[in-house]
Amino acid sequence: MIERANEKKLLTVAVDGPAGTGKSTVCKLFAKKEGLTYLDTGALYRTVALRFIETEISYDDSAGIDALLAGTKIGIKKNPDRMTVFLNGKDVTDSIREEGVGMIASKISAIPRVRQHLLFIQREAAKEGGIIAEGRDMGTVVFPDADIKIYLDADPAERARRRYCELESRGERVDYSKVMEDLEIRDMQDRSRAAAPLKPSDDAIVIDTTRLGIDDVVQTIQNIANRMKCRQHRNDRPE
Ligand code: DC
Repeated sequence: MIERANEKKLLTVAVDGPAGTGKSTVCKLFAKKEGLTYLDTGALYRTVALRFIETEISYDDSAGIDALLAGTKIGIKKNPDRMTVFLNGKDVTDSIREEGVGMIASKISAIPRVRQHLLFIQREAAKEGGIIAEGRDMGTVVFPDADIKIYLDADPAERARRRYCELESRGERVDYSKVMEDLEIRDMQDRSRAAAPLKPSDDAIVIDTTRLGIDDVVQTIQNIANRMKCRQHRNDRPE
């Protein structure tokens, strides 16, 4: 388990980036390797999206949204390589993974009161540290003081290819051009919203994963963590 050398406080690693950059796989592997807990914040937005689908509340119905959020109890169980999500006591870990839910999650994530509601849950889940959290605004908004901030990126065509393979392997029948189209819509929505848009924070390390394998990306993050530890040990050395 990596610790910040000076205070023995457990690490917080923030990982952002658009869909299809390998965030989840990389974060789960790094969490397992380093004994960190994996926090998938997209799963929280997807869970709220499920409630929007169930209740058919309109995106501009402020009072309706407040009532929806008040009636949405999200429970999470964190494990190194998997996060189980409960919506009002029901396990929704698998149902939130559907493509349609991801698209609605992207839409409702532009609503500031939804983001505010989830901000508290995310910070509460990470308050002990020892966490690697993935999302769209980890480094910019949710964990501005994270010890390590990573922004993963990749060419859209490669991201769509990865997404397509992932969906196929789950047995979902999909059309590549539709996957590409959905990815572009989600990118546009996530990047252009006024509230916490997807972008690297000024102090994030950007890694282009287009031509990298998963292990290469995990190793790159490992190297960054090791360098940080060395710097801290140097700073801690008595004069
Ligand atoms: O990571 P994901 O595909 O499961 O996320 C689904 C959507 O949720 C994504 O398109 C935008 C939104 N999201 C967000 O706005 N902020 C986050 N920290 C995580 C996800």
